[in-house]
Amino acid sequence: MDNNLIVIIPALLVSGILLGIVIGIFLHKKSSSIKRGAVAIKASTISGRGAFATENIKDGAIIERCPALEVTNRDIGGELVNYVFYGNSETARLVVMGYGMLFNHSSTPNVAYYREDTELGPEMILYALRNIRKGEELFYNYGDDWWTTR
Ligand SMILES: C[S@@+](CC[C@H](N)C(=O)[O-])C[C@H]1O[C@@H](n2cnc3c(N)ncnc32)[C@H](O)[C@@H]1O
Repeated sequence: MDNNLIVIIPALLVSGILLGIVIGIFLHKKSSSIKRGAVAIKASTISGRGAFATENIKDGAIIERCPALEVTNRDIGGELVNYVFYGNSETARLVVMGYGMLFNHSSTPNVAYYREDTELGPEMILYALRNIRKGEELFYNYGDDWWTTR
């Protein structure tokens, strides 16, 4: 075999492997944010994960319609207590799917929500309380009860 090929072929192999590693690191970094619609879940500025706007959102715009499962407080234990919403009665709790249960709390929120009972079951509709800029963390208010009971 040509002496040049003996050097070039391993060099190409090594550079291919290195390129693969660099692309792998890049893709891994990208996957630390999960996006759907106008919302991405990323490291929060406040606590753990949080929801962030991936685009400018207009005042009043619906951010997410979250299917919800109504259960009772007896179905909810451990850390899940910190994730469910209150339901229509004292003992009712709502498991709000999609990204609905991952928003952090603020007493000056940029997001609010309301419940809609559809023929498929309850939904929690999250909407913007003001114009929100791309990149802002999204917060709703958990309510006074939430903090005083913990
Ligand atoms: C529904 S989870 C929100 C998502 C959570 N940050 C995560 O990483 O999974 C509620 C928990 O987030 C934290 N949290 C939310 N808002 C907060 C705030 N304003 N200050 C401190 N902790 C907050 C509390 O630990 C609370 O129990």
